[in-house]
Amino acid sequence: MSTNDAPLLEVSDLVVAYGTKRKPVPVLHGVSLEVGAGECVGLVGESGSGKSTLGKAILGLVPVASGTIGFDGRDITHAKGRDRRALAADIQVVFQDPYGSLDPLMTVGDILAEPLATAGASKAEAKAVVGEMLDRVRLPKHVIDRYPSEFSGGQRQRIAIARALVRRPRLIICDEPVSALDLTTQATILDLLIELQRDTGVSYLFVSHDLGVVRRVCHRVAVMYRGELVETGDGDVITSDPQHAYSKRLLMASPVADPQLQAERRRAWLALREDRAA
Ligand SMILES: Nc1ncnc2c1ncn2[C@@H]1O[C@H](COP(=O)(O)OP(=O)(O)OP(=O)(O)O)[C@@H](O)[C@H]1O
Ligand SMILES: [Mg+2]
Repeated sequence: MSTNDAPLLEVSDLVVAYGTKRKPVPVLHGVSLEVGAGECVGLVGESGSGKSTLGKAILGLVPVASGTIGFDGRDITHAKGRDRRALAADIQVVFQDPYGSLDPLMTVGDILAEPLATAGASKAEAKAVVGEMLDRVRLPKHVIDRYPSEFSGGQRQRIAIARALVRRPRLIICDEPVSALDLTTQATILDLLIELQRDTGVSYLFVSHDLGVVRRVCHRVAVMYRGELVETGDGDVITSDPQHAYSKRLLMASPVADPQLQAERRRAWLALREDRAA
């Protein structure tokens, strides 16, 4: 494990605009955010505040007007072509809609093996990794011969998570990964994400409009309002006693707080980090 305290992801003063060069429509107005190794940072805010746009900028899916995105000490703000493809080994994404993000014409086995084949893995290597990841997300091996439409929403999200994991990334952008699921399934998928983080040390940037969800999984939370981060801090504080007026409104609109659960998760993470640094 690294003893380096530099954050894995370092976003500085990021400005993103849609529209055209002549008529830009700014959506992110100078966002700065860090995600440490093994850390889960929540990104909350109302619809249209720019959460997905930040995720897309990190993935290189929207052009950055100014500011920088650093990953593992490298500037990846404008990474393109081969450099961007190489980053897919380190930075992955899980979207809200697991059906839309899984090719309905491919078997689960092919969906999971594809990123490995693209990276040059042999069939045997790919098969071994796919088997390992199915175990990790608690799906039986025989699912490899089936198609996404044959699964429930929760199972499809497990497949999407397994696909995000096959290259053993260091950061996964989770964009509303449980918003389309019922409450019980949400809880099992969130627990799975927590367990995967504990076992693999992967970092999450966890986008959600739901403070209750974020409270369960995140060590720190950033609150986005109209393309700006208005407050960033410990998950247990932000989700129970926020300072900024907008965060307070967001909290009031969210389900009952469980600061104790949040505090426990945060303590466990800090202990883990101290272990690693030792
Ligand atoms: N491709 C695009 N072209 C133009 N405008 C866009 C595009 N994508 C998003 N926007 C605009 O940028 C703003 C931020 O959108 P974004 O999708 O990042 O919000 P969000 O916080 O993820 O919202 P939600 O919670 O609904 O997913 C919105 O005003 C949206 O209309
Ligand atoms: Mg979004």
